Amino acid sequence: MSIEDKLKQLEEKKSKIKNLDPQAVEKQHEKGKLTARERIDLLVDPGTFEEFDPFVKTRSTYFGLDKKFIPADGVITGIGLVNGRRVALYSQDFTSLGGSLGEMHALKIVKMQELALKLGIPFIAMNDSGGARIQEGVDSLRGYGDIFLRNVRASGVIPQISVQLGPTAGGAVYSPALMDFIIMTEKATMYITGPNVVEAVTGEKVTHEQLGGGIVHNEKSGVAHFLAKDDEDAINTVKTLLSYLPDNYLQDPPIVETSDSPNRETPSILEIVPDEPNVPFDVKDVVKEVVDENSFFEVHEDFARNAVVGFARINGRTVGIVANQPVYLAGVLDINSSDKIARFIRFCDAFNIPLITFVDTPGYMPGTAQEHGGVIRHGAKILYAYSEATVPKITIIMRKAYGGAYIAMCSRHLGADVVFAFPQAEIAVMGADGAANIIFAKEINAAENPEEMRKKKIEEYREQFSNPYLAAERGYVDDVINPKDTRKAIAYMLDFLRSKHEEPILKKHGNIPL
Ligand code: HXC
Repeated sequence: MSIEDKLKQLEEKKSKIKNLDPQAVEKQHEKGKLTARERIDLLVDPGTFEEFDPFVKTRSTYFGLDKKFIPADGVITGIGLVNGRRVALYSQDFTSLGGSLGEMHALKIVKMQELALKLGIPFIAMNDSGGARIQEGVDSLRGYGDIFLRNVRASGVIPQISVQLGPTAGGAVYSPALMDFIIMTEKATMYITGPNVVEAVTGEKVTHEQLGGGIVHNEKSGVAHFLAKDDEDAINTVKTLLSYLPDNYLQDPPIVETSDSPNRETPSILEIVPDEPNVPFDVKDVVKEVVDENSFFEVHEDFARNAVVGFARINGRTVGIVANQPVYLAGVLDINSSDKIARFIRFCDAFNIPLITFVDTPGYMPGTAQEHGGVIRHGAKILYAYSEATVPKITIIMRKAYGGAYIAMCSRHLGADVVFAFPQAEIAVMGADGAANIIFAKEINAAENPEEMRKKKIEEYREQFSNPYLAAERGYVDDVINPKDTRKAIAYMLDFLRSKHEEPILKKHGNIPL
């Protein structure tokens, strides 16, 4: 063969791999989904994608697999730039045997995982697959195991982002679950067993979407962190998310220039946060006022809405925001919000992202549902995560900070570097009503007019304890600030805390309550 013929052969081979079955592509598009390569084109900067292993094919001979042509063995893998940042990625091709994962398909993914880890660059997984390639039996199961192991090894070293763009069935859900963030389109599904098995085993009739659709996993299970309306929206979410993150745990997140002055005053917070302890307000209004203009990017928006977590920037630097949300369940801490907060804290701590905590919570949620569901075990995760975190930690007590929740929400006692309080802050074991009813029960019951006495005692307690000054006298609160100075105070402290260095205690690993 002459070199010309060899080049022609190479072209033919590559084009055969890239030219998918038009009917399968049409079916994919009809479902509102893009193909694996179209997705990569949307994600990476033009001309930057270098594909690895396009020629890889299955070694299996069972059920006629050796007679089938499966382009790229059903997964496109490679490296590229996303807004100039290096990433390693894979994108499963549902048009080729349902994107099912066999031995070689898995080894292609593993190669990318190992490359991402060696280079210290983010790993992006675009999933659209019928799961383990049934014809390859235990070899495909082994493939998943190999991927899971690398997911865990990379955890806390590089950001791992999973994008769910079609089905993910069976144990295949566990690679996304082991990664840092899951972005799901509304039509994507994730479940351990599909509707047929559910009906056979339990008799329950349920659709794919009801069982494990994007909305369900964003709102109910909390498995997914972001909901996207379609593939393009999901891929744009990856880009936005990446803009807040460093490439690996040894780096700081990128700095984004801003025209928003760190000294800008925030007087509207005085109007947003009501004086009365029981009047709700949207904590996101406070957050948006404090951070750089338009920089707040919420994570887990639809799950456990009584807490708010997300990334933002202050003076161009990424911060992690954790806040109680008074408009949902009065901002109480419960099982789901504890999981949400703790997981977010640990991600930020792993990747050098300072934490800003906004507090307004009446405490942990009472009741049998919570107690029997393990609110002790789940609530402990917040205490653990804050105590363990060595990144700069700044806390703003806006209003209520009662009981265990006061301690949990990054109090000085759990290692906050700076605690600010607003003048309307109430730092106490519990609210004035509950406290007065307990400690003045005898006086109230013995009074001629118990209701009048109750009111008097509540007022007495409020005067004495429902303020930030007792905590400030002890140094638990570093300063009581005018809310109009919130942004300025945080920005100044963040800048000072830049050099914070705290070595974690040397051990194999801790044992966070799970
Ligand atoms: C081999 C598969 C496949 C699989 C789909 N295909 N899933 N081939 N192994 N797991 C093939 C189909 O045979 C078909 O091939 C093509 O992909 C498209 O599939 P359709 O069924 O036509 O597509 P659709 O109607 O959109 O349905 C998608 C689906 C369904 C819901 C994902 O295919 C499905 O239920 N697949 C099986 C899901 C499953 O149970 N997987 C195993 C889970 S257990 P042709 O040639 O006709 O185009 C698992 C264990 C992992 O994953 C354990 C890790 C620890």
